Amino acid sequence: MQTPSELAALHLATYAAVPTLYRAPGRVNLIGEHTDYSGGFVMPAAIDFSTLIAISPRTDGRVLAHSINFDEHIDQSIDDLLACRARSWSDYPAGVLWALREKGLDVSAGFSLTIVGNVPLGAGLSSSASVEVATAFAVLGTLAIEMPLSEIALLCQRAENAFVGANVGIMDQFVICCGQQDHAVMIDTRFLTYTLAPIPPEIRIVICNSMVKHSLAEGDGGYNTRRAEMEAGLHILQQHRPEIVALRDATLDDLDRWGSEMSPVSLRRCRHVITEDDRVVAAVEAFNAGDLARFGQLMHQAHASIRDDFEASCPELDILVDLAEQQPGCFGARMTGGGFGGCTVNLVAAEHAAAFVEAMRAGYHAATGITAEIYISRASAGAHMVTI
Ligand code: GLA
Repeated sequence: MQTPSELAALHLATYAAVPTLYRAPGRVNLIGEHTDYSGGFVMPAAIDFSTLIAISPRTDGRVLAHSINFDEHIDQSIDDLLACRARSWSDYPAGVLWALREKGLDVSAGFSLTIVGNVPLGAGLSSSASVEVATAFAVLGTLAIEMPLSEIALLCQRAENAFVGANVGIMDQFVICCGQQDHAVMIDTRFLTYTLAPIPPEIRIVICNSMVKHSLAEGDGGYNTRRAEMEAGLHILQQHRPEIVALRDATLDDLDRWGSEMSPVSLRRCRHVITEDDRVVAAVEAFNAGDLARFGQLMHQAHASIRDDFEASCPELDILVDLAEQQPGCFGARMTGGGFGGCTVNLVAAEHAAAFVEAMRAGYHAATGITAEIYISRASAGAHMVTI
């Protein structure tokens, strides 16, 4: 990937304008999957893969964007962004501009953007949210508009929900805005508050990419379907206990009492979400107490729940998790992100990390014939301006 100076030089050569640069990371979720659209808890961290955007203002009301990764350009009127939806990389920057405009911000003068990134695509590490947040920071920075981080995250989520068509929660955009180096972020997605949990120096976050691609948008994968199945169950509970606004408010007792009125599928989806919220709360406690063994057990349970109850894992991810759990120094392993492919996250003792990577690569290849990409990642800072 280009360095900031190289990107700035490319931007200058393409648009004859000196740009400002912004960086936004990807993310990995340690625990708390598919709880963030039920007002629940999640515990992700920003990672050291990122999107870098060079931006300069225009005066002709157009958005010109160049993706270095895709080697493609777009040139669109800012008044007509909805018409340019293409189900491609350009929907993310265009969606954010659309959401900013919808919010009443004056983006009418237009912008030139040059975008590059190294967040693996379709791997459940939030390449999309990374582009969205980088775009939002870039545009707001250029217009000198200050906005609270939680509002930026909500705006990017709206771009993804209403423009891109993926009914995602707030986790990715939020942690990409608020991440801090060497910290995981425990987010209460109902109140959009968060606390930081320092990652002990003796562990490494190892991410294993199954190389099975996923997509969260309409028509592909099961994200929107899972969400609808969960919501069908929620509506049954709400008929009995109207004070349940989201599954965050429901308990296993509620499921015991009224679960039989749901379809078996909705019952399982709801059970995953309700038990996952409890696991995140317990996991944060264990993490802060330095009890990594307990944290790992909770990761194990979380994986079983998303595999069996939420059914958002896939055979390749299950193989990665089983293999990881056999390795020395591995505290815990589970799939991370939306699921249906993508990556697992593993907490591994630092001194075992190199051997872990080798064993995982060999074991996964032997079991599937696929060569996994494996990354040892630090928790990194959230989105920010980059000076050269
Ligand atoms: C995707 C979505 C998030 C969240 C996860 C599952 O990453 O973007 O909002 O729902 O899936 O936890």
